[in-house]
Amino acid sequence: MYIKTKRLMIRKFEFKDWQAVYEYTSDMNVMKYIPEGVFTDEDAIEFVNRNIGDKADKFPVLLIDENIVIGHIFFSKCFGEHTYEIGWVFNPNYYNKGYASEAAKAVLEYGFEKMKIHRIVATCQPQNIPSYRVMEKIGMRREGYFKKCIPNGNEWWDEYYYAILEEEWK
Ligand SMILES: CC(C)(COP(=O)(O)OP(=O)(O)OC[C@H]1O[C@@H](n2cnc3c(N)ncnc32)[C@H](O)[C@@H]1OP(=O)(O)O)[C@@H](O)C(=O)NCCC(=O)NCCS
Repeated sequence: MYIKTKRLMIRKFEFKDWQAVYEYTSDMNVMKYIPEGVFTDEDAIEFVNRNIGDKADKFPVLLIDENIVIGHIFFSKCFGEHTYEIGWVFNPNYYNKGYASEAAKAVLEYGFEKMKIHRIVATCQPQNIPSYRVMEKIGMRREGYFKKCIPNGNEWWDEYYYAILEEEWK
Protein backbone atom coordinates (compact mmCIF):
# COMPACT_ATOMS: atom_id res chain seq x y z
CA MET A 1 0.00 0.00 0.00
CA TYR A 2 1.22 3.50 -0.83
CA ILE A 3 -1.16 6.41 -0.35
CA LYS A 4 -0.65 10.15 -0.15
CA THR A 5 -3.16 12.64 1.24
CA LYS A 6 -2.85 16.38 1.74
CA ARG A 7 -0.78 15.99 4.93
CA LEU A 8 0.01 12.30 5.21
CA MET A 9 1.76 9.38 3.58
CA ILE A 10 0.80 5.75 4.24
CA ARG A 11 3.42 3.26 3.09
CA LYS A 12 4.94 -0.09 4.02
CA PHE A 13 6.97 -0.39 7.19
CA GLU A 14 10.75 -0.04 7.09
CA PHE A 15 12.92 -1.42 9.89
CA LYS A 16 13.96 2.04 11.07
CA ASP A 17 10.32 2.85 11.92
CA TRP A 18 10.40 0.66 15.04
CA GLN A 19 11.55 3.45 17.36
CA ALA A 20 8.70 5.73 16.37
CA VAL A 21 6.28 2.82 16.82
CA TYR A 22 7.78 2.02 20.22
CA GLU A 23 7.28 5.63 21.34
CA TYR A 24 3.48 5.34 21.23
CA THR A 25 2.91 1.59 21.63
CA SER A 26 4.84 1.63 24.93
CA ASP A 27 2.26 4.10 26.34
CA MET A 28 -0.39 2.32 28.43
CA ASN A 29 -2.98 4.99 27.70
CA VAL A 30 -2.56 4.47 23.96
CA MET A 31 -2.70 0.66 24.23
CA LYS A 32 -5.57 0.47 26.73
CA TYR A 33 -7.99 -0.96 24.14
CA ILE A 34 -5.46 -2.75 21.94
CA PRO A 35 -5.55 -6.55 22.44
CA GLU A 36 -1.72 -6.89 22.27
CA GLY A 37 -1.31 -4.48 25.20
CA VAL A 38 1.75 -2.32 25.91
CA PHE A 39 4.80 -3.04 23.72
CA THR A 40 8.38 -3.53 24.86
CA ASP A 41 11.11 -2.41 22.46
CA GLU A 42 11.39 -6.05 21.33
CA ASP A 43 7.65 -6.17 20.62
CA ALA A 44 7.97 -3.03 18.50
CA ILE A 45 10.85 -4.52 16.52
CA GLU A 46 8.94 -7.77 15.99
CA PHE A 47 5.80 -5.86 15.00
CA VAL A 48 7.67 -3.84 12.38
CA ASN A 49 9.54 -6.89 11.07
CA ARG A 50 6.26 -8.82 10.69
CA ASN A 51 4.84 -5.97 8.64
CA ILE A 52 7.73 -5.37 6.25
CA GLY A 53 6.98 -8.19 3.82
CA ASP A 54 4.08 -9.05 1.50
CA LYS A 55 1.91 -10.32 4.38
CA ALA A 56 1.81 -6.87 5.98
CA ASP A 57 -1.53 -5.75 7.38
CA LYS A 58 -0.30 -2.74 9.40
CA PHE A 59 0.98 0.40 7.67
CA PRO A 60 2.76 3.43 9.12
CA VAL A 61 1.25 6.88 8.74
CA LEU A 62 3.79 9.69 8.26
CA LEU A 63 3.55 13.46 8.25
CA ILE A 64 4.76 14.35 4.77
CA ASP A 65 6.39 17.64 5.76
CA GLU A 66 8.34 16.27 8.74
CA ASN A 67 8.78 12.73 7.37
CA ILE A 68 8.00 11.19 10.76
CA VAL A 69 5.81 8.22 11.72
CA ILE A 70 2.85 9.41 13.81
CA GLY A 71 0.85 6.18 13.96
CA HIS A 72 -0.26 3.17 12.01
CA ILE A 73 -3.34 1.84 10.28
CA PHE A 74 -4.42 -1.78 10.41
CA PHE A 75 -6.09 -3.08 7.24
CA SER A 76 -6.71 -6.77 6.94
CA LYS A 77 -8.91 -9.34 5.24
CA CYS A 78 -11.78 -10.59 7.33
CA PHE A 79 -14.56 -12.98 6.22
CA GLY A 80 -12.92 -13.88 2.90
CA GLU A 81 -11.82 -11.63 0.05
CA HIS A 82 -14.69 -9.15 0.04
CA THR A 83 -14.53 -7.72 3.56
CA TYR A 84 -11.64 -5.91 5.27
CA GLU A 85 -11.25 -4.67 8.81
CA ILE A 86 -9.67 -1.29 9.49
CA GLY A 87 -8.12 0.00 12.73
CA TRP A 88 -5.79 2.77 13.95
CA VAL A 89 -3.25 3.57 16.65
CA PHE A 90 -1.65 7.02 16.77
CA ASN A 91 0.95 8.87 18.83
CA PRO A 92 -0.84 11.09 21.41
CA ASN A 93 1.39 14.05 20.48
CA TYR A 94 -0.69 14.26 17.30
CA TYR A 95 -4.25 13.58 18.54
CA ASN A 96 -7.28 15.65 17.59
CA LYS A 97 -5.79 17.15 14.46
CA GLY A 98 -7.83 14.94 12.16
CA TYR A 99 -4.86 12.76 11.20
CA ALA A 100 -6.44 9.37 11.96
CA SER A 101 -9.59 10.32 10.06
CA GLU A 102 -7.59 11.64 7.09
CA ALA A 103 -5.53 8.44 6.92
CA ALA A 104 -8.49 6.11 7.45
CA LYS A 105 -10.60 7.86 4.81
CA ALA A 106 -7.78 7.51 2.30
CA VAL A 107 -7.53 3.79 3.09
CA LEU A 108 -11.29 3.37 2.54
CA GLU A 109 -10.93 5.10 -0.83
CA TYR A 110 -8.01 2.83 -1.72
CA GLY A 111 -9.95 -0.25 -0.58
CA PHE A 112 -13.15 0.53 -2.45
CA GLU A 113 -11.73 2.12 -5.58
CA LYS A 114 -8.44 0.28 -6.15
CA MET A 115 -9.01 -3.06 -4.42
CA LYS A 116 -12.75 -3.24 -5.22
CA ILE A 117 -13.63 -4.38 -1.72
CA HIS A 118 -17.34 -4.76 -0.93
CA ARG A 119 -17.40 -3.99 2.79
CA ILE A 120 -15.08 -2.51 5.45
CA VAL A 121 -15.69 -3.00 9.18
CA ALA A 122 -14.22 -1.61 12.39
CA THR A 123 -14.75 -2.28 16.08
CA CYS A 124 -14.03 -0.51 19.35
CA GLN A 125 -15.11 -0.32 22.96
CA PRO A 126 -17.96 2.15 23.64
CA GLN A 127 -15.66 4.00 26.07
CA ASN A 128 -13.22 4.70 23.23
CA ILE A 129 -14.95 7.83 21.96
CA PRO A 130 -12.09 9.10 19.72
CA SER A 131 -12.03 5.76 17.90
CA TYR A 132 -15.73 5.65 17.07
CA ARG A 133 -15.67 9.35 16.24
CA VAL A 134 -13.11 8.47 13.55
CA MET A 135 -15.44 5.71 12.28
CA GLU A 136 -18.35 8.14 12.10
CA LYS A 137 -16.31 10.95 10.53
CA ILE A 138 -15.30 8.66 7.67
CA GLY A 139 -18.87 7.57 6.99
CA MET A 140 -19.10 4.25 8.82
CA ARG A 141 -22.42 3.21 10.38
CA ARG A 142 -22.84 1.62 13.79
CA GLU A 143 -24.22 -1.85 13.03
CA GLY A 144 -23.94 -3.57 16.35
CA TYR A 145 -23.41 -3.25 20.05
CA PHE A 146 -22.16 -6.50 21.52
CA LYS A 147 -22.56 -6.73 25.26
CA LYS A 148 -19.78 -8.24 27.37
CA CYS A 149 -18.13 -10.02 24.45
CA ILE A 150 -14.42 -9.48 25.19
CA PRO A 151 -12.79 -10.88 28.30
CA ASN A 152 -10.52 -8.36 30.01
CA GLY A 153 -9.11 -9.71 33.26
CA ASN A 154 -11.98 -10.03 35.69
CA GLU A 155 -14.40 -7.98 33.61
CA TRP A 156 -16.06 -8.11 30.20
CA TRP A 157 -15.83 -5.38 27.63
CA ASP A 158 -18.69 -4.37 25.36
CA GLU A 159 -17.94 -3.71 21.69
CA TYR A 160 -19.31 -1.42 19.01
CA TYR A 161 -19.28 -2.75 15.49
CA TYR A 162 -19.19 -0.32 12.55
CA ALA A 163 -19.23 -0.90 8.78
CA ILE A 164 -19.43 0.81 5.41
CA LEU A 165 -20.37 -0.76 2.09
CA GLU A 166 -18.88 0.15 -1.26
CA GLU A 167 -22.27 1.46 -2.42
CA GLU A 168 -22.43 3.75 0.64
CA TRP A 169 -18.92 5.05 -0.04
CA LYS A 170 -20.03 6.17 -3.48
C1 LIG B 1 -8.45 6.71 18.03
C2 LIG B 1 -7.26 7.56 17.56
C3 LIG B 1 -6.48 6.82 16.48
C4 LIG B 1 -7.82 8.89 17.00
O1 LIG B 1 -6.72 9.65 16.47
P1 LIG B 1 -6.85 11.19 16.10
O2 LIG B 1 -5.81 11.50 15.06
O3 LIG B 1 -6.88 12.00 17.33
O4 LIG B 1 -8.29 11.22 15.42
P2 LIG B 1 -9.01 12.46 14.70
O5 LIG B 1 -8.35 13.74 15.11
O6 LIG B 1 -9.11 12.16 13.25
O7 LIG B 1 -10.48 12.37 15.31
C5 LIG B 1 -10.70 12.24 16.70
C6 LIG B 1 -12.09 12.74 17.03
O8 LIG B 1 -12.45 12.33 18.35
C7 LIG B 1 -12.89 13.47 19.07
N1 LIG B 1 -12.62 13.23 20.49
C8 LIG B 1 -11.44 12.95 21.07
N2 LIG B 1 -11.61 12.78 22.39
C9 LIG B 1 -12.94 12.93 22.63
C10 LIG B 1 -13.75 12.86 23.80
N3 LIG B 1 -13.23 12.57 24.98
N4 LIG B 1 -15.09 13.07 23.66
C11 LIG B 1 -15.64 13.35 22.46
N5 LIG B 1 -14.91 13.42 21.31
C12 LIG B 1 -13.59 13.23 21.42
C13 LIG B 1 -12.10 14.61 18.49
O9 LIG B 1 -12.66 15.86 18.81
C14 LIG B 1 -12.20 14.26 17.01
O10 LIG B 1 -13.50 14.53 16.50
P3 LIG B 1 -13.84 15.91 15.72
O11 LIG B 1 -12.87 16.04 14.59
O12 LIG B 1 -15.25 15.71 15.30
O13 LIG B 1 -13.67 17.01 16.72
C15 LIG B 1 -6.32 7.91 18.75
O14 LIG B 1 -7.08 8.48 19.78
C16 LIG B 1 -5.58 6.69 19.29
O15 LIG B 1 -4.54 6.29 18.76
N6 LIG B 1 -6.10 6.09 20.37
C17 LIG B 1 -5.38 4.98 21.03
C18 LIG B 1 -5.41 3.72 20.21
C19 LIG B 1 -6.82 3.20 20.02
O16 LIG B 1 -7.59 3.12 20.99
N7 LIG B 1 -7.13 2.82 18.79
C20 LIG B 1 -8.43 2.32 18.45
C21 LIG B 1 -8.64 0.95 18.91
S1 LIG B 1 -10.27 0.41 18.51
